[in-house]
Amino acid sequence: MSRLTIVGAQWGDEGKGKMTDYLAQNSDVVVRYQGGNNAGHTITFNGQKYALQSIPSGIFSPKIKNVMANGMVINPKAALGELEKLHSMGITYYQLFISDRASVIMPYHLALDGAYESLKGGNMIGTTKKGIGPAYADKYNRIGIRMGDLLNPDYFAERLKDALAVKNMELKMLGLDTFDFESLYEEYLGYGRTLKSYICDTALMLNEEVKKDSKILFEGAQGVMLCIEHGTYPFVTSSSPATVSVPLGTGIPPKYIDRSLGVCKAYNTRVGAGAFPTELESDLAHYIRERGREYGTVTGRPRRVGYLDTVALAHACRISGIDTLAVMLFDVLSGIKELKICTHYVLDGKKIDYIPSTISDYERCEPVYVDMPVWNEEITTCKSYDKLPENAKKYLKKIEELVGTPIEYVSVGPDRVQTIEVKK
Ligand code: GDP
Ligand code: IMO
Ligand code: MG
Repeated sequence: MSRLTIVGAQWGDEGKGKMTDYLAQNSDVVVRYQGGNNAGHTITFNGQKYALQSIPSGIFSPKIKNVMANGMVINPKAALGELEKLHSMGITYYQLFISDRASVIMPYHLALDGAYESLKGGNMIGTTKKGIGPAYADKYNRIGIRMGDLLNPDYFAERLKDALAVKNMELKMLGLDTFDFESLYEEYLGYGRTLKSYICDTALMLNEEVKKDSKILFEGAQGVMLCIEHGTYPFVTSSSPATVSVPLGTGIPPKYIDRSLGVCKAYNTRVGAGAFPTELESDLAHYIRERGREYGTVTGRPRRVGYLDTVALAHACRISGIDTLAVMLFDVLSGIKELKICTHYVLDGKKIDYIPSTISDYERCEPVYVDMPVWNEEITTCKSYDKLPENAKKYLKKIEELVGTPIEYVSVGPDRVQTIEVKK
């Protein structure tokens, strides 16, 4: 079991950064295979908290090879900013590899992300405004710039001219400022020069690691409910965080991907717009939001909070072939007054246990709950499954029963050491 995918099994922010860092301690390579700096992965160890956006969560260990693979969209300026921040926090020796085929997020993508959102008015997605959607759209429209292009001045000039011909026209039509070729060209060639030593063919390198039977972690960003194919479209991101993206996003054939770990919270959160059947707006939401510090890592927005939705979780497990679960932020539920788990929905009077394809149907889904017994004991120092309060164990067993997937890890605090391995 050398190659494991870590995938968000809800609407993002499940604690993928924490689990990647935890499992990276026994890994050789950590790979980000999709998304960009819309992600915010928080890692806490030795009393220090780090927030990563596009840099993989294995960066803290000099022995780990960290790969930003071809499926990513990369803002080179922001990535350099992240590296500078890491330097200032004492992380100065690391191994980083950036795919020459990864797409570049350009400044016009950020401008267009904001403009598209404004045009949608009340139907805005609530994107992170990092240019993710427009950058992926250009990739598929074949006018994208790739990281390797920045190393080749003549080729880059050609690519940028072609892209600007389209983008500047679009910007003009939207009444936005256009971009000057010369200054963009010089600026982005500069990023290429600075990042040159990291940029390479990461698919070649990763397949060599597979041959050596290296332990590889694939670090997903976002979550399956935000998947462009299987999420709550159109209120999704522009890539697929599901395990199926790993082969395409890295260049490693599917037969070499061994296993998938689904990371989920003990409850649900969502940041940004879109239907959220189990959303709470009561004192209970406040209780969870404050105990879980549920504020976005990237945008600082308060996260919407709700009871655990096992219809959505089972959907993620099905789509992503999740073998086992890591249940995160379990400590947050201690002391809660009323606890429920959503078992299925009712849509127009009919019981359903799947996610409808349209938002208009999904918005009409009424959650149906099973009541769960509460517990008051704090569990943040709990080191083993056996020591958890009986009602807490009942809660975990109920999740396994409803979702049909075994729980492998339970997280009882943000720190690396606050992690319970259930089988131990
Ligand atoms: P990611 O995007 O999936 O990596 O998750 P984020 O880092 O955006 O959000 C998860 C938040 O929960 C972070 O602030 C983590 O430090 C924190 N966290 C992770 N696991 C636990 C846990 O078990 N308990 C508590 N209280 N916080 C946790
Ligand atoms: P991590 O990796 C939570 C959400 C945005 C918005 C939608 C589209 O930290 O779990 P985008 O900027 O991607 O076009 O926004 O997706 N979103 C996330 N929500 N966690 C994330 O990443 C997210 N990345 C994007 O809030 O609703
Ligand atoms: Mg996050």
